[in-house]
Amino acid sequence: MSTIDAQARYSRGAIALHWIIALLIMGNFVGAWVSEDMPRPEKMELMGYHKAFGMLILGLTVLRIIWRLTHTPPPLEETLKAWEAALAKVTHALFYFLMLAVPMAGWGLHSAFSQGKPVSFLRLFNIPALPVGSDKATTGLFHELHEVFAGAMLLLFVLHVAAALKHHLLDKDGTMRRMVPWMK
Ligand code: HEM
Ligand code: HEM
Repeated sequence: MSTIDAQARYSRGAIALHWIIALLIMGNFVGAWVSEDMPRPEKMELMGYHKAFGMLILGLTVLRIIWRLTHTPPPLEETLKAWEAALAKVTHALFYFLMLAVPMAGWGLHSAFSQGKPVSFLRLFNIPALPVGSDKATTGLFHELHEVFAGAMLLLFVLHVAAALKHHLLDKDGTMRRMVPWMK
Protein backbone atom coordinates (compact mmCIF):
# COMPACT_ATOMS: atom_id res chain seq x y z
CA MET A 1 0.00 0.00 0.00
CA SER A 2 1.40 3.42 -0.88
CA THR A 3 1.88 6.16 1.73
CA ILE A 4 -0.87 8.17 0.08
CA ASP A 5 -3.33 5.27 0.31
CA ALA A 6 -2.39 4.64 3.95
CA GLN A 7 -3.35 8.25 4.76
CA ALA A 8 -6.52 8.16 2.64
CA ARG A 9 -9.30 10.10 4.29
CA TYR A 10 -12.61 11.71 3.32
CA SER A 11 -12.38 15.44 2.57
CA ARG A 12 -12.96 17.93 5.39
CA GLY A 13 -16.37 18.86 3.97
CA ALA A 14 -17.50 15.21 3.78
CA ILE A 15 -16.24 14.55 7.33
CA ALA A 16 -17.95 17.67 8.70
CA LEU A 17 -21.25 16.77 7.03
CA HIS A 18 -21.01 13.12 8.22
CA TRP A 19 -20.62 14.09 11.88
CA ILE A 20 -23.04 17.05 11.92
CA ILE A 21 -25.77 14.92 10.30
CA ALA A 22 -24.97 11.93 12.56
CA LEU A 23 -25.33 14.10 15.70
CA LEU A 24 -28.56 15.67 14.46
CA ILE A 25 -30.04 12.23 13.65
CA MET A 26 -29.12 10.82 17.07
CA GLY A 27 -30.59 13.95 18.69
CA ASN A 28 -33.82 13.51 16.73
CA PHE A 29 -34.21 9.89 17.89
CA VAL A 30 -33.59 10.83 21.53
CA GLY A 31 -35.97 13.82 21.22
CA ALA A 32 -38.77 11.66 19.76
CA TRP A 33 -38.36 9.01 22.48
CA VAL A 34 -38.12 11.50 25.38
CA SER A 35 -41.16 13.46 24.13
CA GLU A 36 -43.40 10.39 24.43
CA ASP A 37 -43.69 10.70 28.23
CA MET A 38 -43.98 14.48 28.32
CA PRO A 39 -47.09 16.54 29.06
CA ARG A 40 -48.62 18.06 25.91
CA PRO A 41 -47.19 21.63 25.96
CA GLU A 42 -43.61 20.41 26.54
CA LYS A 43 -44.10 17.64 23.96
CA MET A 44 -45.25 20.17 21.34
CA GLU A 45 -42.24 22.39 22.12
CA LEU A 46 -39.78 19.49 21.81
CA MET A 47 -41.48 18.19 18.64
CA GLY A 48 -41.07 21.70 17.19
CA TYR A 49 -37.29 21.21 17.53
CA HIS A 50 -37.62 17.63 16.21
CA LYS A 51 -39.32 18.93 13.06
CA ALA A 52 -36.91 21.85 12.54
CA PHE A 53 -33.79 19.72 13.03
CA GLY A 54 -35.36 17.01 10.86
CA MET A 55 -35.78 19.53 8.03
CA LEU A 56 -32.15 20.63 8.57
CA ILE A 57 -31.08 16.97 8.23
CA LEU A 58 -33.01 16.78 4.96
CA GLY A 59 -31.34 19.92 3.58
CA LEU A 60 -27.84 18.88 4.69
CA THR A 61 -28.39 15.40 3.23
CA VAL A 62 -29.27 16.85 -0.18
CA LEU A 63 -26.06 18.92 0.01
CA ARG A 64 -24.10 15.86 1.10
CA ILE A 65 -25.40 13.69 -1.74
CA ILE A 66 -24.49 16.42 -4.27
CA TRP A 67 -21.03 16.61 -2.64
CA ARG A 68 -20.68 12.82 -2.76
CA LEU A 69 -21.64 12.67 -6.46
CA THR A 70 -19.17 15.40 -7.40
CA HIS A 71 -16.18 14.23 -5.28
CA THR A 72 -14.31 10.94 -5.46
CA PRO A 73 -14.20 9.15 -2.08
CA PRO A 74 -10.81 7.87 -0.86
CA PRO A 75 -9.95 4.34 -2.05
CA LEU A 76 -11.06 1.59 0.34
CA GLU A 77 -8.62 -0.11 2.69
CA GLU A 78 -6.81 -2.80 0.69
CA THR A 79 -7.34 -5.33 3.50
CA LEU A 80 -11.13 -5.11 3.08
CA LYS A 81 -12.69 -8.38 1.90
CA ALA A 82 -14.98 -8.26 -1.15
CA TRP A 83 -18.09 -8.98 0.95
CA GLU A 84 -17.17 -6.20 3.40
CA ALA A 85 -16.76 -3.68 0.59
CA ALA A 86 -20.08 -4.79 -0.96
CA LEU A 87 -21.91 -4.63 2.40
CA ALA A 88 -20.48 -1.15 3.10
CA LYS A 89 -21.66 0.03 -0.33
CA VAL A 90 -25.21 -1.28 0.22
CA THR A 91 -25.38 0.05 3.80
CA HIS A 92 -24.19 3.52 2.78
CA ALA A 93 -26.62 3.70 -0.16
CA LEU A 94 -29.49 2.61 2.10
CA PHE A 95 -28.41 5.22 4.66
CA TYR A 96 -28.57 7.98 2.04
CA PHE A 97 -32.05 6.78 0.99
CA LEU A 98 -33.29 6.78 4.60
CA MET A 99 -31.67 10.15 5.37
CA LEU A 100 -34.05 11.50 2.71
CA ALA A 101 -37.03 9.19 3.33
CA VAL A 102 -37.29 9.58 7.13
CA PRO A 103 -37.55 13.40 7.14
CA MET A 104 -39.69 13.41 3.94
CA ALA A 105 -42.19 11.06 5.65
CA GLY A 106 -42.06 13.26 8.79
CA TRP A 107 -42.74 16.32 6.63
CA GLY A 108 -45.67 14.48 5.02
CA LEU A 109 -46.97 13.47 8.46
CA HIS A 110 -46.79 17.05 9.73
CA SER A 111 -48.47 18.37 6.56
CA ALA A 112 -51.36 15.87 6.75
CA PHE A 113 -51.87 16.10 10.52
CA SER A 114 -51.70 19.89 10.74
CA GLN A 115 -53.95 20.32 7.65
CA GLY A 116 -51.38 22.20 5.59
CA LYS A 117 -49.76 24.41 8.25
CA PRO A 118 -46.11 25.23 7.45
CA VAL A 119 -43.20 23.80 9.49
CA SER A 120 -41.75 26.55 11.67
CA PHE A 121 -37.95 26.52 11.58
CA LEU A 122 -37.13 27.58 15.15
CA ARG A 123 -39.58 30.49 14.65
CA LEU A 124 -37.04 32.04 12.26
CA PHE A 125 -38.90 31.21 9.04
CA ASN A 126 -41.59 28.85 7.74
CA ILE A 127 -41.22 25.87 5.42
CA PRO A 128 -44.44 25.22 3.44
CA ALA A 129 -46.40 22.03 4.03
CA LEU A 130 -46.34 19.31 1.38
CA PRO A 131 -49.44 19.26 -0.84
CA VAL A 132 -50.96 16.09 0.65
CA GLY A 133 -54.45 15.30 1.92
CA SER A 134 -55.28 15.64 5.61
CA ASP A 135 -57.66 12.67 5.92
CA LYS A 136 -57.10 9.91 8.44
CA ALA A 137 -55.75 7.42 5.86
CA THR A 138 -53.08 9.85 4.54
CA THR A 139 -52.01 10.83 8.06
CA GLY A 140 -51.87 7.15 9.03
CA LEU A 141 -49.82 6.28 5.95
CA PHE A 142 -47.17 8.96 6.61
CA HIS A 143 -47.09 8.04 10.31
CA GLU A 144 -46.49 4.40 9.37
CA LEU A 145 -43.80 5.35 6.81
CA HIS A 146 -42.03 7.67 9.28
CA GLU A 147 -42.01 4.97 11.95
CA VAL A 148 -40.93 2.10 9.66
CA PHE A 149 -38.19 4.14 7.91
CA ALA A 150 -36.91 5.39 11.30
CA GLY A 151 -36.87 1.79 12.57
CA ALA A 152 -34.84 0.70 9.52
CA MET A 153 -32.46 3.62 10.09
CA LEU A 154 -31.92 2.54 13.69
CA LEU A 155 -31.08 -1.02 12.56
CA LEU A 156 -28.65 0.33 9.99
CA PHE A 157 -27.08 2.60 12.61
CA VAL A 158 -26.38 -0.41 14.88
CA LEU A 159 -24.85 -2.34 11.95
CA HIS A 160 -22.80 0.71 10.85
CA VAL A 161 -21.35 1.42 14.32
CA ALA A 162 -20.68 -2.30 14.92
CA ALA A 163 -18.78 -2.42 11.59
CA ALA A 164 -16.77 0.72 12.44
CA LEU A 165 -15.83 -0.74 15.85
CA LYS A 166 -14.99 -4.16 14.34
CA HIS A 167 -12.56 -2.52 11.89
CA HIS A 168 -11.05 -0.35 14.61
CA LEU A 169 -10.77 -2.85 17.48
CA LEU A 170 -10.54 -6.29 15.82
CA ASP A 171 -9.10 -5.74 12.33
CA LYS A 172 -7.11 -2.70 13.52
CA ASP A 173 -7.26 -1.23 10.00
CA GLY A 174 -7.61 2.42 8.99
CA THR A 175 -11.38 2.49 8.30
CA MET A 176 -12.23 4.64 11.33
CA ARG A 177 -9.40 7.07 10.57
CA ARG A 178 -10.98 7.79 7.17
CA MET A 179 -13.87 9.56 8.90
CA VAL A 180 -12.20 10.80 12.13
CA PRO A 181 -9.99 13.84 11.44
CA TRP A 182 -7.69 13.61 14.50
CA MET A 183 -6.83 9.87 14.14
CA LYS A 184 -3.31 9.15 12.94
C1 HEM B 1 -26.95 8.25 12.25
C2 HEM B 1 -25.65 8.36 12.24
C3 HEM B 1 -24.78 8.04 11.05
C4 HEM B 1 -25.08 8.06 9.71
C5 HEM B 1 -26.41 8.40 9.04
C6 HEM B 1 -23.87 7.66 9.00
C7 HEM B 1 -23.79 7.55 7.62
C8 HEM B 1 -22.65 7.25 6.92
C9 HEM B 1 -22.53 7.15 5.48
C10 HEM B 1 -23.70 7.36 4.51
C11 HEM B 1 -21.25 6.86 5.17
C12 HEM B 1 -20.67 6.64 3.76
C13 HEM B 1 -19.86 7.83 3.33
C14 HEM B 1 -19.69 7.84 1.81
O1 HEM B 1 -18.83 7.12 1.29
O2 HEM B 1 -20.45 8.55 1.15
C15 HEM B 1 -20.53 6.74 6.42
C16 HEM B 1 -19.20 6.43 6.55
C17 HEM B 1 -18.56 6.18 7.75
N1 HEM B 1 -19.13 6.27 9.02
FE1 HEM B 1 -20.98 6.86 9.46
N2 HEM B 1 -22.87 7.42 9.91
C18 HEM B 1 -23.39 7.63 11.18
C19 HEM B 1 -22.72 7.48 12.37
C20 HEM B 1 -21.46 6.98 12.51
C21 HEM B 1 -20.81 6.66 13.77
C22 HEM B 1 -21.43 6.83 15.16
C23 HEM B 1 -19.56 6.17 13.46
C24 HEM B 1 -18.45 5.66 14.37
C25 HEM B 1 -18.65 4.94 15.44
C26 HEM B 1 -19.43 6.21 12.02
C27 HEM B 1 -18.30 5.85 11.31
C28 HEM B 1 -18.16 5.91 9.95
C29 HEM B 1 -16.93 5.56 9.25
C30 HEM B 1 -15.61 5.11 9.89
C31 HEM B 1 -17.17 5.74 7.86
C32 HEM B 1 -16.19 5.50 6.69
C33 HEM B 1 -16.46 4.17 6.09
C34 HEM B 1 -15.60 3.93 4.85
O3 HEM B 1 -14.42 4.22 4.91
O4 HEM B 1 -16.12 3.46 3.85
N3 HEM B 1 -20.60 6.69 11.47
N4 HEM B 1 -21.41 6.98 7.46
C1 HEM C 1 -33.85 12.21 10.15
C2 HEM C 1 -34.78 12.92 10.75
C3 HEM C 1 -35.82 12.33 11.66
C4 HEM C 1 -35.74 11.24 12.50
C5 HEM C 1 -34.54 10.32 12.74
C6 HEM C 1 -37.04 11.08 13.12
C7 HEM C 1 -37.36 10.07 14.02
C8 HEM C 1 -38.58 9.95 14.66
C9 HEM C 1 -38.95 8.90 15.57
C10 HEM C 1 -38.03 7.74 15.98
C11 HEM C 1 -40.23 9.12 15.97
C12 HEM C 1 -41.07 8.25 16.90
C13 HEM C 1 -41.87 7.31 16.02
C14 HEM C 1 -42.95 6.59 16.73
O1 HEM C 1 -42.64 5.66 17.45
O2 HEM C 1 -44.12 7.00 16.55
C15 HEM C 1 -40.68 10.32 15.33
C16 HEM C 1 -41.94 10.87 15.50
C17 HEM C 1 -42.38 12.01 14.85
N1 HEM C 1 -41.68 12.75 13.90
FE1 HEM C 1 -39.80 12.42 13.28
N2 HEM C 1 -37.86 12.07 12.66
C18 HEM C 1 -37.17 12.85 11.77
C19 HEM C 1 -37.64 13.93 11.05
C20 HEM C 1 -38.91 14.47 11.17
C21 HEM C 1 -39.41 15.61 10.42
C22 HEM C 1 -38.63 16.39 9.37
C23 HEM C 1 -40.70 15.84 10.84
C24 HEM C 1 -41.69 16.89 10.40
C25 HEM C 1 -41.40 17.98 9.74
C26 HEM C 1 -41.00 14.83 11.85
C27 HEM C 1 -42.21 14.72 12.51
C28 HEM C 1 -42.51 13.77 13.46
C29 HEM C 1 -43.79 13.71 14.17
C30 HEM C 1 -44.97 14.67 13.99
C31 HEM C 1 -43.68 12.60 15.04
C32 HEM C 1 -44.73 12.16 16.07
C33 HEM C 1 -45.54 11.01 15.62
C34 HEM C 1 -46.45 10.60 16.75
O3 HEM C 1 -47.16 11.43 17.28
O4 HEM C 1 -46.43 9.42 17.08
N3 HEM C 1 -39.90 14.01 12.01
N4 HEM C 1 -39.67 10.81 14.52
